Amino acid sequence: MKYETLHGLSIPKIGLGTWQLGGDSYPDPKLDPVSLAALRAALEVGYTHFDTAEGYAAGHSEELVGRAIRETNTKRENLFITTKVSPEHLQYEQVLKSCENSLRRLNMDYIDLYLIHWPPRAGMKLDGTFRALNQLVRDGKVKHLGVSNFKLKLLKEAQSLSETPILTDQVPYRLPDKAYVENGVLEYCQQNNILLTAYSPVKFRNLPVNKTVGAIANAHSATPFQIALAWLVAQPRVITIPMSFNAQHIKDNFEAADIELTEEEFKTLSGLW
Ligand SMILES: NC(=O)c1ccc[n+]([C@@H]2O[C@H](COP(=O)([O-])OP(=O)(O)OC[C@H]3O[C@@H](n4cnc5c(N)ncnc54)[C@H](OP(=O)(O)O)[C@@H]3O)[C@@H](O)[C@H]2O)c1
Repeated sequence: MKYETLHGLSIPKIGLGTWQLGGDSYPDPKLDPVSLAALRAALEVGYTHFDTAEGYAAGHSEELVGRAIRETNTKRENLFITTKVSPEHLQYEQVLKSCENSLRRLNMDYIDLYLIHWPPRAGMKLDGTFRALNQLVRDGKVKHLGVSNFKLKLLKEAQSLSETPILTDQVPYRLPDKAYVENGVLEYCQQNNILLTAYSPVKFRNLPVNKTVGAIANAHSATPFQIALAWLVAQPRVITIPMSFNAQHIKDNFEAADIELTEEEFKTLSGLW
């Protein structure tokens, strides 16, 4: 595993996403066994960063993360848990309540990284939101703050309102989707010690059949999915959180962090789309 080091933290370049573990927008109990198996597989392989949200399966994903950690007797201090407050809960009191609910569902007494999941509705100011978030950090319920799906203007506004450094902007970033390169967020993050957490890193239909990716994968005895992750891992201040129900994929994704792309391979991949 490779790590990003900043603000006294060492964060693995690859963590586990949990969107759809335990259900889509609502809990789906039928998915509990496979979701728990995926979380257990990840803990066994050595994942320490788990990304969830109050909005995932209406909080049930958080419950499953907490349950898998408890059932495997994993030490809390060895983990880095990210969760998120939903955009409909950004008023001061709502943020405090959402955080309490997430802590209860996770069965934890602190969250490592608490993100604003999506920007507020048009016209809403973030002052009250950050008043609550700053209070949660002061109270020790949250260690670090971040945002998600924020473009540059809002990211800078978040920085100005946060009493502690904004640790990450979690955004869509993968081989064919470079919107957050083009809008300047990646460069700004790299220049200002902010992690860009790439979500949906392998969600690309043509990935398995792309010939260039396939050739690079063959050269490393790797899969195209691993090469897509290795391309993200190679970039400074970029971390990523692939999700999978499949134990082999979970292991492959973790091991992708150890693939060393040559400079030429990196450039070829960067120029692909
Ligand atoms: N902040 C936000 O607004 C936001 C939005 C979307 C996602 N996220 C976060 O980012 C995480 C990842 O994004 P995502 O779930 O949208 O997409 P993703 O991780 O890019 O893709 C997940 C899909 O890829 C497949 N897959 C994963 N690894 C594979 C491998 N090694 N080989 C073959 N197939 C593989 C999985 O199927 P199998 O189960 O068959 O492996 C699953 O269908 C989410 O779980 C969530 O935590 C955040």
